[in-house]
Amino acid sequence: MSSTPFGSVAGSITDTFGRPLGSLRLSVTDRCNLRCKYCMPEEEYAWLPRETILSFEEMYTLTGFFTDLGVEKVRVTGGEPLLRRDLPTLIRMLLRNPQVRDLALTTNGILLADQAQALYDAGLHRVTVSLDTLDASRFQALTRRDGHHRVLEGIEEVVRVGFRGLKLDTVAIRGYNEDELVDLIEYGKGVGAEVRFIEYMDVGGATDWSMEQVFSQAEILDLVRQRYGRVEPVNEASSAPAQRFVLPDGTTFGIIPSTTTPFCATCDRSRITADGMWYLCLYATQGIDLRQPLRAGASPEEIRSTIRSVWQGRRDRGAEERKELERFGIREQLIEIGKLREDPHLEMHARGG
Ligand code: GTP
Ligand code: 5AD
Ligand code: SF4
Repeated sequence: MSSTPFGSVAGSITDTFGRPLGSLRLSVTDRCNLRCKYCMPEEEYAWLPRETILSFEEMYTLTGFFTDLGVEKVRVTGGEPLLRRDLPTLIRMLLRNPQVRDLALTTNGILLADQAQALYDAGLHRVTVSLDTLDASRFQALTRRDGHHRVLEGIEEVVRVGFRGLKLDTVAIRGYNEDELVDLIEYGKGVGAEVRFIEYMDVGGATDWSMEQVFSQAEILDLVRQRYGRVEPVNEASSAPAQRFVLPDGTTFGIIPSTTTPFCATCDRSRITADGMWYLCLYATQGIDLRQPLRAGASPEEIRSTIRSVWQGRRDRGAEERKELERFGIREQLIEIGKLREDPHLEMHARGG
């Protein structure tokens, strides 16, 4: 039993700052069918080699090592996870593990209308859909692809098949969608979803990032107050990145203020890329290769022991370190394009947020 800022977690190990190994993000593909300007602004990308991509069996096995060490929350991500063929099969497999108490999916929604029923039938617990705008031509400009109506159909289908706890993630970007934030809250209310506004982050791959485009938590709150009057924070102890707020009519929404107000102190998450590299921080430039020992036949205890010792030595606080650069006036894009081309793991779309 280890003690954490959230109480005691049975079986969980903690890092050098006392943060538990709590939540695992599992990227199932680095491919995506959109090209969002805050994530994939380039014309061409280097993809992870096909033969390195983990099978579902390998993902299931690796996830089991993490749940043995305390992970209870698993989120399936991408790239765009619904591009991975037969995803409901992976969902079923992951749910054979009784230690997975919360299984969620983050998707851009393009393929969701077709797959929502099968995902629900497979037992998936929760879905989060990215939705940055309610305007089809803005969607086209942001993502350089068509399909806005398919995303909206996907959201409706998720509700129709019976999912609870739907969230909509909106990256707030100055000059792009700050005039729609209130409309998005209203849209969320209409479909029974909680909207979360995410500050534009200077993560790997965000090569167009600049501080001027970050529409901050303070600005979001000002804007929401102008429309609704009182906006109160919801007091809750949580490792989730979002600070939640409640409007006078009881509607809640969240803000994920990673850029201006990092929450590294309570971060319990890490991520595995589709080829089995384990990253302890969204901003980390080095990962730990878990595919190699897995394919070389290392014993479960050997791999668990690697995970345990790496987590116990974890000192990452990437978003806070980025913030500190502001004091010296040198906060700009995290990784330049040449380095991203050399190592696709540095991209946000490879590590899945
Ligand atoms: P739940 O709280 O379980 O619903 O999940 P979540 O909020 O972690 O999942 P989601 O995929 O919706 O995450 C929302 C966004 O938060 C991501 O798309 C990222 O933009 C951001 N985010 C996720 N993990 C991290 C992290 O480790 N650090 C930072 N700074 N931001 C993160
Ligand atoms: N800033 C903030 N969020 C980002 N995402 C990807 N790139 C960025 C970025 N630069 C997140 C968004 C999107 C999810 C798939 O990844 O939340 O909805
Ligand atoms: Fe957009 Fe997500 Fe695809 Fe990145 S991975 S381009 S955020 S849809």
